[in-house]
Amino acid sequence: MKILITAGPTREPLDPVRYLTNRSSGKMGYAIADAAAAANHHVTLISGPSNEEVPDGIDYIPVETAEEMYHAVQNYIGKMDAAIFAAAVSDYRPASIAEQKIKKTEDTLTLELVKNPDILGSARSKFSYQGVLVGFAAETENVESNARAKLMRKQCDLVIANDVSRKDIGFDSNENELLLVYPQTTESIPKADKHHLAHIIIEKVTDLQPK
Ligand code: CTP
Repeated sequence: MKILITAGPTREPLDPVRYLTNRSSGKMGYAIADAAAAANHHVTLISGPSNEEVPDGIDYIPVETAEEMYHAVQNYIGKMDAAIFAAAVSDYRPASIAEQKIKKTEDTLTLELVKNPDILGSARSKFSYQGVLVGFAAETENVESNARAKLMRKQCDLVIANDVSRKDIGFDSNENELLLVYPQTTESIPKADKHHLAHIIIEKVTDLQPK
């Protein structure tokens, strides 16, 4: 299969020396790319800045901002059999990027943010993508119902949910515990190393491929 994977955080510049980002390490997305390559799939990894090692033998497209990730996905998704959106995309970016470093002249500073494009949410609609579509949901409460709402809203075949309120799993951790939310069913995958979970995810994605 040809599999597209988004991974890592995005970085939204504020001025020449500052940016807004989040705590995503890219570990889960890179582990999925690794597992997919090991299973002999053709992998395209579109990733925001991460310290993870890029797996050998894959197509690697580095990006910084959500808009760059949006355009890269738009370019590549048409040829894919499956697309797995593991990136933690910034929902908002600064409304304008200062040309010069912002100086601390005032006691308070208000930032105006504007919404970034929803990349996963554009797959079925704007990109007319018809392959297997898998999203992630990082939730702090009502994990299953929030993930199911996301599955419907973004027309996914599977949403992989995790509880980011827990300190022992998720962001920047080597382990995770997942809830696989399908249109009709839900399956929980107990806490395990992200590499082990990545292999399970690739098996589940392969199962979703029309026979
Ligand atoms: N995602 C994306 N582009 C965005 C935001 C999110 O592709 N601009 C993808 C993520 O990679 C993930 C999924 O959408 O696969 C879930 O993201 P999330 O931000 O949790 O979903 P939202 O619908 O934005 O809901 P929330 O209100 O919880 O932020």
